[in-house]
Amino acid sequence: MDKIISRVSRDLKDNGVSVIPNVFSESQCKEYVQILDDLIENAPSNSKNRINEDVQSINNYFRHHPKLLDLVYIPILDKLFKHLIGNDHVLISANTFNRSKKVGIKQNTDYEHSKNAGHNWHIDSDYIGGIRIESGFSYQIIIMLEDFTEENGATHYVPDSHKIRTRPDRDAEYDYKIITGKAGSIGIIDSGLWHRSGGVTPISRWGVFNCYGPWFVKPYFRFPDMLGENTGKNLSPQLRRLLHYRSTPPLNEEERLNTVINEIED
Ligand SMILES: [Fe+2]
Repeated sequence: MDKIISRVSRDLKDNGVSVIPNVFSESQCKEYVQILDDLIENAPSNSKNRINEDVQSINNYFRHHPKLLDLVYIPILDKLFKHLIGNDHVLISANTFNRSKKVGIKQNTDYEHSKNAGHNWHIDSDYIGGIRIESGFSYQIIIMLEDFTEENGATHYVPDSHKIRTRPDRDAEYDYKIITGKAGSIGIIDSGLWHRSGGVTPISRWGVFNCYGPWFVKPYFRFPDMLGENTGKNLSPQLRRLLHYRSTPPLNEEERLNTVINEIED
């Protein structure tokens, strides 16, 4: 097996967290940051995205610029998640956040609600009967489009918490570590790891936060309806899988019997 895949798989099992450096180049990161800054600048005043003095965020970023689809299908991660989750794994959610202080920015959503997004200890998995789903079920990734450091609000996590099946106290003071890396790195966490955002600073810190899981998990949004069939026809088989074009249930048994549609990917 690929050395990176086995190292990251081991990190995730043992520590619940891993970082792969140099996945994207500096110039690619700059291009993505420019696109996101432009999307914030040109966001309509009725946008539901969190855009205020403390956080700038574009949910489902890939629907606003085709270039950003490169941040959904990332070959090294696809290989990793085929190994960890299965060949039919999908995208569950996709968001971008910059927690830089931007005094005077046009605020277009409810400030108090927006300020607290991801700010308290939480997991990105879920609970059944009060017990958290087993670790290894789904993974949250952080694409660092700018350097993630201790000074600019990089994500905090509680070491070994992916082995705890109860809920974190949202406001407790736990011992924590910080997920840092140079621009172009990707942090990966088990979605059961207790984590929170690192807070608001004056330094720009654009990150892409995607969650990947097994095909039978409901995504946060109906991606095929969002993008449409015409777009779907022109996507690669990998993106069609990740965006649920290949695992949305058929209408009835006359449409087809299987839920998952297999396509050759290579
Ligand atoms: Fe989270």
